[in-house]
Amino acid sequence: MTPDGESVGRFFYGRRYLERSDAVELDPVELGLRRGQYETARMDGFFGAIRDSMPDYWGRRVIERNTGHTQLEEFDYLMFGPDDRAGALGFGLNVQPPPPKHCFNQTIDLERLQAAADTILSDAPNIEDPTTSHAEELMLVGTSMGGAQPKAVVEHEQNLWMAKFSRHDDRWNHPRVEHGLLKLAQKCGISVAENRITNVGGRDVLLVRRFDRERTEKGYQRHRMVSALTLLQSDDSPTSRRDWSYILFADELRRVSRKPESDLRELFARLCFNAVVSNLDDHPRNHAILAKGRDWRLSPAFDLAPTPMIAMERRDLAMACGNGGRYANKKNILSQHARFLLNEEDASADLNNIVETVRNLWRPAMRESGVSKIDRKTIESAFLYQGFFH
Ligand SMILES: Nc1ncnc2c1ncn2[C@@H]1O[C@H](COP(=O)(O)OP(=O)(O)OP(=O)(O)O)[C@@H](O)[C@H]1O
Ligand SMILES: [Mg+2]
Repeated sequence: MTPDGESVGRFFYGRRYLERSDAVELDPVELGLRRGQYETARMDGFFGAIRDSMPDYWGRRVIERNTGHTQLEEFDYLMFGPDDRAGALGFGLNVQPPPPKHCFNQTIDLERLQAAADTILSDAPNIEDPTTSHAEELMLVGTSMGGAQPKAVVEHEQNLWMAKFSRHDDRWNHPRVEHGLLKLAQKCGISVAENRITNVGGRDVLLVRRFDRERTEKGYQRHRMVSALTLLQSDDSPTSRRDWSYILFADELRRVSRKPESDLRELFARLCFNAVVSNLDDHPRNHAILAKGRDWRLSPAFDLAPTPMIAMERRDLAMACGNGGRYANKKNILSQHARFLLNEEDASADLNNIVETVRNLWRPAMRESGVSKIDRKTIESAFLYQGFFH
């Protein structure tokens, strides 16, 4: 704490860690691999890379329910989360890291996990519900992954997957629509996380393969992963939101990526795609960079969702994308093409290609994903809204 009551976080790499030949930095912006102490007064003293490892809205609800406390310290959320969190970091109070987890939930457990998630969502005071009676069982629901939607981590076909559940109050079939949108993005040439639909107890669940874990003979190897929020050295506060920007993200990516040209072209395609399908929840935690070895690259795309809206004149993305701010509009998006290392002609061609692919394929992609006719009608207004072309 500072004299005026602000929390300060301190971090340093241990001497023995720095001596290792395989030592790596936690992130490529803030915590470079060197001796000495880092200090931050931002975000209650949490560095971005550590904040990325903390549970979000969903995980916090599970932890609060499991511990019976709603007034936990930030640090408690970090320590209470089980070790399935995104990225490579593990947390403990000793010099030795916590032992790697060997036993994971299986897809056969999904029905139980879904029931547990429903109970948490309904805030049912009756914890004695026979399907979800034990606190441990609630803890089974993968708590450490970020995001607001109910989810769990399961092992399936020798890989780890994030299972994203539906909610009873969903206005359309979210798992199938996300599946359809990931498929459509792929048809637009965007690299997306591998995913599939499964059905448990009559309800659909989206399984997204974790790209930050890789099966080896010794167990799951963890890859480092850092959100665009950390790369932008930003946070969720209203004042910081003004700095959220695809263009600044592109600048950082150019600096840290091993393949800047292709990663920036890919980021530009994702920006165009998000505008064309009204994925307006494209906040900087829904973009990440990944280091499978030493080098950082843009991660595959994840968490894509259309936002059907009545407004046809103007829609805004979550991050600035051109001279006209967050306006999801063709001219605005093309205004800063050079920051994505693209000339005007190539940027324009890439964007038009995405527009045409979405125009021709959004319905077939949704149909192939099993999205019903009624749901296709409900989400229709998200695609190719008028204001995009103004
Ligand atoms: N395939 C994946 N591999 C590894 N980590 C992932 C993957 N997909 C998502 N994540 C991580 O898990 C977090 C939550 O996932 P996701 O964004 O899909 O959930 P959500 O609850 O829909 O999020 P939101 O709160 O943005 O709606 C992401 O922010 C990201 O850090
Ligand atoms: Mg998300």
